[in-house]
Amino acid sequence: MNRIVTKVRTSLASKVIVSTVLLSLVVVWITGSALYSQLSAGVKQVNLETSLAEARSSFFNAQYQFLLVNGAGSSIITKTVQDIIISSTAVSLNQDRKSIFLSRFGSDLVPDSKLVAIDYSTVTDELEVSSFPTELRKRVRSSDLVEYQYATVSYKNREDADVLIAGRRIAIPDSGNYEMYLVYSLTNQNTTLSLITTSLLATGVALLFLIGLITWLVVRQVVKPVREAARIAQQFTEGDFSQRMQVESSDEIATLGTAFNDMALSLESQISRLENLSRVQQRFVSDVSHELRTPLTTLRMASEVIYGQREKFDPTIARSSELLVAQLDRFEGLLEDLLEISRFDAEVAVLEPSDFDLVALIKRCIADLLGNEIAHQSVINIDHATEQVMIKADIRRVERILRNLLSNALDHAEDKPVDVKIVLTETEVAVGVRDHGAGIEPSVLSRVFDRFWRADPSRARVRGGTGLGLSIALEDARLHNGELDAWGAPGFGAHFVMTLPRIAGEQIGGRPIRSQPVDYPQTV
Ligand SMILES: Nc1ncnc2c1ncn2[C@@H]1O[C@H](COP(=O)(O)OP(=O)(O)OP(=O)(O)O)[C@@H](O)[C@H]1O
Ligand SMILES: [Mg+2]
Repeated sequence: MNRIVTKVRTSLASKVIVSTVLLSLVVVWITGSALYSQLSAGVKQVNLETSLAEARSSFFNAQYQFLLVNGAGSSIITKTVQDIIISSTAVSLNQDRKSIFLSRFGSDLVPDSKLVAIDYSTVTDELEVSSFPTELRKRVRSSDLVEYQYATVSYKNREDADVLIAGRRIAIPDSGNYEMYLVYSLTNQNTTLSLITTSLLATGVALLFLIGLITWLVVRQVVKPVREAARIAQQFTEGDFSQRMQVESSDEIATLGTAFNDMALSLESQISRLENLSRVQQRFVSDVSHELRTPLTTLRMASEVIYGQREKFDPTIARSSELLVAQLDRFEGLLEDLLEISRFDAEVAVLEPSDFDLVALIKRCIADLLGNEIAHQSVINIDHATEQVMIKADIRRVERILRNLLSNALDHAEDKPVDVKIVLTETEVAVGVRDHGAGIEPSVLSRVFDRFWRADPSRARVRGGTGLGLSIALEDARLHNGELDAWGAPGFGAHFVMTLPRIAGEQIGGRPIRSQPVDYPQTV
């Protein structure tokens, strides 16, 4: 049921078909009911008129017969009564059954009766006389006309039945006044009515089905191009701009198709223009970086010479030579980063996986960083379950990621301890680097991986950071099919988690270390 509801909600064709069929149902129902009441009234009217005409002629015949035998002997009268009963109850072709009920009333109405009057009261078909409507009997007794009424009567040997009763007062010679009733069964009429009902219902259902079918055929013509457009738009999202809609006619759908195709064309050209532009920019960065390398090498050699001789110069020149070397180091680092980024952009960065021990690599990085930076008072604690964690990855890239995470942590740790956690699972390995320093504003968290983005550019200038480290680290991790997640909260420090597949190139199934630290209060 739920599936049907969802289908109707999501499909335009089903929506139109369902609403058309529902509206048609209402219309068919109203016209069907009107038709039925007209037809049934007609059938009942015709049936009533024929029955009454027949009843009138029967009564007339009976009266006439009794008039003829007036004064004759009782045996002749008895015979006449029997004849009348037989002739009145004879059924015609369209009738199911006809019964008669003869009942004497007010015997004192025969003034010159010398004999004991014979009572000819009769009832056929085992009719229950008590079920006759008393009101009709009253009317018959007191009137000279044919009276009739619809009623439900009981039989002794059958079920109750709906009938039409027509009655009239009759006088039988030498006997008295009688009520004579002819009871017409309505079974045939009811059969006709139910036949009409069934035919109307069947016609209604067939009509609704046909309406549904026609709507479906019509809607399909409109929905088909819309579906086609949706499919092509989906292809656009996947980067395939070559698809176009087929325009075959000149109606509104064709206008939509043409507009859609124009849009595709313009999008395609805009995108290729932008692609060109970005390719030119990438080329520019890559070319400039390459071009800068040669003069930089010369500069480096010259500066080394000056630096080597610094004891011979006076202190200000010696200090300048030290600064020169330091800035050249930074320049070289920046150039190296730019070249690496150009490689990522040009999609020529390749993985060179090898087996190595991650714990040993982390220890080496920490030793290097702490050794270089005497200014750091921070301690780095490593937490891992086993002595060795062997993985297969590009050691140069993993080292670059770790160095950046660790140096970032040390830079922002404000001399508080930095915790490194290593978790190994069946399919992946995760390294979490947590510091307890100033932390990162949640609003800028998504920007830490942007190129050249630094939370505090002036501080970075002192430290020598360019804001390229994390963006390169993210590209490095993704090259392994891994991920890099960042978490930070002002005053609670930052947490960076690198998750890599144990074997480079395979997929990671989850995150063994969540980026939000466990010690961080959930409600804050
Ligand atoms: N552990 C951290 N705590 C607080 N802020 C951080 C942390 N790590 C990174 N950031 C913020 O993210 C910015 C970008 O870091 P990223 O490593 O990309 O650049 P960088 O360290 O400034 O320079 P580079 O790594 O290129 O030498 C940093 O400048 C800093 O503002
Ligand atoms: Mg950094």
